[in-house]
Amino acid sequence: MISHGPDVVTVVTGASGFIGSHIVANLLSRGEVVRATVRDISDPERVDHLKNLKMAEGGSLEIVEMDLFDADAVDSAIAGCSNVIHTAASVIISSKNPQKKILDPSIIGTRNVVSAIEKSGSVERFVHTSSTAAIRPLHWTDGQILTTESWADDATVEENPYGLAKASAERIVREWHEQQPVDSRPRLVTIHPCMVFGPPMSPRHLRGSLALLMMMVRRNLPMVLPMQVSIVDVRDVAEAHVRGLTGGKDKGRYLVVAGDMMMGEMARSLKKEYPNRKWKTSVAPYWLSLVAAFFHPKVDVAWAKRHLRKKLYWDATPAENELGMVWTDPEKSVLDTVPPILEQNWV
Ligand SMILES: NC(=O)c1ccc[n+]([C@@H]2O[C@H](COP(=O)([O-])OP(=O)(O)OC[C@H]3O[C@@H](n4cnc5c(N)ncnc54)[C@H](OP(=O)(O)O)[C@@H]3O)[C@@H](O)[C@H]2O)c1
Repeated sequence: MISHGPDVVTVVTGASGFIGSHIVANLLSRGEVVRATVRDISDPERVDHLKNLKMAEGGSLEIVEMDLFDADAVDSAIAGCSNVIHTAASVIISSKNPQKKILDPSIIGTRNVVSAIEKSGSVERFVHTSSTAAIRPLHWTDGQILTTESWADDATVEENPYGLAKASAERIVREWHEQQPVDSRPRLVTIHPCMVFGPPMSPRHLRGSLALLMMMVRRNLPMVLPMQVSIVDVRDVAEAHVRGLTGGKDKGRYLVVAGDMMMGEMARSLKKEYPNRKWKTSVAPYWLSLVAAFFHPKVDVAWAKRHLRKKLYWDATPAENELGMVWTDPEKSVLDTVPPILEQNWV
């Protein structure tokens, strides 16, 4: 529970997004006062689902327009608030112009956010959404367990622009925090989700991590890949952010990972739960997956060699012990993603 009252305003950046929307839902269900930032307030796909969220007594929702590149808009969105949850970022892993499309929103945007927090003088709690991508180096060994001691230090614009963007944004936050006077700086927690599944609230939510599941729903691939997927539920990710406002250690870095499934297991679960739909469940042989990666516009053979057939694990016990997180079963997260997609005809 976070300290209540009309004076305690929580700003959620990127509130139109998949994770941001669930954080807003979580806060409103607790009767919190929320200021949600979106890039385009006139777009129903960005705001309608937020306006329809259930609200407990005392809760209120203000939606404000804010682009991370517009420092004045960031200043006014954060002015006077007590809590900041900064989820906004460009969530794409490859682009023809990675600097502009992937790195700049995270780097310039996060600089603007910490500058606004400093100017406001009112922020007491700051939760920043980082990622497993800020932790996972390019090279890891099969069966390795990564902890929050690790950083994606070898990420480059060419090889791992998303990892570089997430690690750089987190460093900006941490270095800024370190420079602030200890008695007046906000408490800081960073949250590091892996691949996030769970119910989408808007068709816009299908484009990030849910794109992998959408490929299976749409049967875009003739076969599934021999690939492990680390999974966490979006509702747990939202809960961890909200708990991080008051719980956990100051400067804590929390991996939020519930478990993992092979893509083939995901496909078989989906087929069992939704037998009226057709699913591709055969797993492609390794060599064929490499050929597919060669021709795929978004992945390359080097990526495929690093990820296919290999297993990587994450130590999320600090989030369990210090934030009290109990994870939704990954299979349930996968299955719960589908009903809104079918009901709203987003296929
Ligand atoms: N989904 C995952 O599997 C996953 C895993 C680990 C970490 N994360 C992190 O979680 C956060 C949220 O991700 P998500 O999955 O919710 O992605 P998402 O649905 O794409 O949401 C991203 C949000 O950021 C906003 N945004 C992007 N560029 C912006 C800009 N220049 N100015 C202002 N807002 C901007 C988007 O606004 P628009 O709606 O206007 O585009 C959207 O609200 C990100 O920091 C991401 O790196 C996600």
